[in-house]
Amino acid sequence: MNLSDFLNQSCVTLSHSNQLSQLILSIAEAGKQIAALVAKGKLAGVSHHLDSINVQGEAQMQLDISSHDIFINCLAATKLVVGAVSEELASPHYFPDHLPDAPYLVCFDPLDGSSNVAFDGVVGSIFSILPAPPNAVRSEEMFLQQGVHQIAAGYVLYGPATMLVISVGAGTHAFTLDPDTQAFELTHPNLQIPAHYPEFAINASRQRYWETPMQQYIADCLAGEEGVRQCNFNMRWMASMVADVHRILMRGGVFLYPKDNQVIDRAGRLRLLYEVSPMSMLIEQAGGKASTGRASVLDLYPSQIHQRVPAILGSINEVDLIEQYHQR
Ligand code: F6P
Ligand code: MN
Repeated sequence: MNLSDFLNQSCVTLSHSNQLSQLILSIAEAGKQIAALVAKGKLAGVSHHLDSINVQGEAQMQLDISSHDIFINCLAATKLVVGAVSEELASPHYFPDHLPDAPYLVCFDPLDGSSNVAFDGVVGSIFSILPAPPNAVRSEEMFLQQGVHQIAAGYVLYGPATMLVISVGAGTHAFTLDPDTQAFELTHPNLQIPAHYPEFAINASRQRYWETPMQQYIADCLAGEEGVRQCNFNMRWMASMVADVHRILMRGGVFLYPKDNQVIDRAGRLRLLYEVSPMSMLIEQAGGKASTGRASVLDLYPSQIHQRVPAILGSINEVDLIEQYHQR
């Protein structure tokens, strides 16, 4: 079954609007265009660094900007989106030609893990679809909605195969791009994250900055069979949230980007609206759990469009346990 058939079917079974299908198809189109660009590698000058830095203080690459532009053009074509927040823009982008009753807002990270581009490593795009408040005045406040209100979320992974993983609130489903037909085919329906899988993903070079509960949790994992966990853990870190979360959706484990004290007033590295919140929806729709360590990610009330939060996502037993470390 391809993406279009899947969305037609879920339109009927979940009675979501046909407009949602149109919007997701337009994002899938953006994903295909970005995949083609990423696949050209150095030949398309994709690792070319610009002099600019984005609102996050990160160096921008030509490919970050091109991916952002592709997203904006695909979203604009639907006329269904009032405004969008992108990692690459300080303020929201408002679509001048949207329909008067356009129902959606979109938050996106056009090229997640883009430092991997320099060596042909895996990257991705992340998106979150929110309801546009009726008659809302254009403002950043429109976007500051709890993650539980997401209508849909997903990512496109630009790996050895290009994959689209989505949830419209009824499970998490993965599609693989067929390079011959350029159709996304449903290859992994209803992903289910095992409740326990002894593998964690964390940037261990930041260990000295972590809070005590995270220090203790990782120390206990590293102690293996001889320690309190009585279990040997494996570790993986792709430095691309899409790639790391994808692995966890496929086989379990836990992804951690905790709060650390290197930058005191920074709650975490990853951004709530277009990284942690959509990934949390996908994880929870696949039977996993998403937490900051102290609260459910999807219950957080965002305070700023580029707000950062701690992210602990994955196998439910492990995330429960990490919350217990924070309570102790
Ligand atoms: O977008 C931020 C991001 O690139 C994520 O994709 C990834 O998980 C993380 O940052 C990598 O962080 P670090 O540079 O600390 O490994
Ligand atoms: Mn990112």
